[in-house]
Amino acid sequence: MPVIGDSSAILEFEKMLPQHQAAITLMNSVLQNPLVDKVNWLDLACGKGQIISQLNENLTLENRKKITYYGYDINVDYTKIVSKIADNLNFMDYVIHIGDLSSFDNILPKDLKFDFITCTNVTHEIHPQKFLEIILGVIKRLNAYGQLFLYDMESLSNPELGALPLKASDIKRLVETILRVAGSDFKVCPSTWSHRTCKGWSLVINRNYLGVSNDNFVKSTTKILDALHNEIGMMLNMKLTECKQVLDTFTSYGTETSDEEEQKMTSLYEFWSLHKALEDLI
Ligand SMILES: C[S@@+](CC[C@H](N)C(=O)[O-])C[C@H]1O[C@@H](n2cnc3c(N)ncnc32)[C@H](O)[C@@H]1O
Repeated sequence: MPVIGDSSAILEFEKMLPQHQAAITLMNSVLQNPLVDKVNWLDLACGKGQIISQLNENLTLENRKKITYYGYDINVDYTKIVSKIADNLNFMDYVIHIGDLSSFDNILPKDLKFDFITCTNVTHEIHPQKFLEIILGVIKRLNAYGQLFLYDMESLSNPELGALPLKASDIKRLVETILRVAGSDFKVCPSTWSHRTCKGWSLVINRNYLGVSNDNFVKSTTKILDALHNEIGMMLNMKLTECKQVLDTFTSYGTETSDEEEQKMTSLYEFWSLHKALEDLI
C-alpha cells in the first residue's frame, strides 16, 4: 500500500493531544478493574509514540505494569523512537512490529488478541477501502470485552498531498456497512470535536456490543468487501461532485476572503485525493 510522502508523526513530550488523552482515560478505567491483571494494547500506526509520551504521568506504575504494549508502524525510524520510550515505562512487556497496516493481521501472531486497540490520526492517510478492511481485521482481533478507539481529523490544517480525511458521518456509514452485512444491527456513534485548527471525530467500538461472532465476520468477508466497495464508490463520487461545484464557483468568481482562499486550496488538494482514491478503487 503506498504511504503518502507528506505523512509525518509528531513527538512533543510537553504536549498531550486531546485524542490521546481520551484514549488513555478509556484504558485507565479498564486498568482500574481489580480483576484485570493484564491488558494487551495494540497501537496501530503508532508514529513516534506521542500517545505514550506522558504515560508515566497518566497511569500509575501499578497499572503500567499490567500493560503489554504492541506498537505497529511502517516507518522504521519511528519504531526505534517508540521502543526507546516504551523501554522506560515499566510495561509488563512491549513489542514493536514494523509493517504495512494492510499486513498487520499476517504479521502479528495468529492467536494474539487485544483488550485495547488504538489507531489515531491515521485514517486520512489510508485509502478508505483499505482502511475499512483493516477495521474489519481489527474487530476480529479484539478480546470479548476489547475496545477499539479511533480518532482522525475531518480536515487537515496543513493539507497533505494524497490525504483524504473522512467525516464522522462517512466513518459511521462505512463501519455500519461492515456490521450490517455480518448480521449485526449495532449502530456506531462517532463523536465530533471542534478544535482551534480543525474538527475531528472519534469512535469507540466495544466488541461485546456487536452481537456477532468472528465466524460470521469471516463467512461474510467477500460480501462485506463488495458492499464496502459500492458504498465507498458512491461516497467518493458524491464528494467529487461537491468538490467540483466548489472549485467551479471559485473558477468563475475568484476568492474574496482569506477563508475562501483557504477553502480553494483545501478543495484543490481534495480534488486530487478523490481522483486518486477513485482510480485506486477500480
Ligand atoms: C499522523 S501519524 C499518527 C501517529 C500516531 N498514531 C499519533 O497519533 O501520533 C500517521 C502514522 O501512520 C503511519 N502510516 C501511514 N501509512 C501507513 C501504512 N500503510 N502502514 C503502516 N503505517 C502507516 C505513518 O508512518 C505515521 O507514523
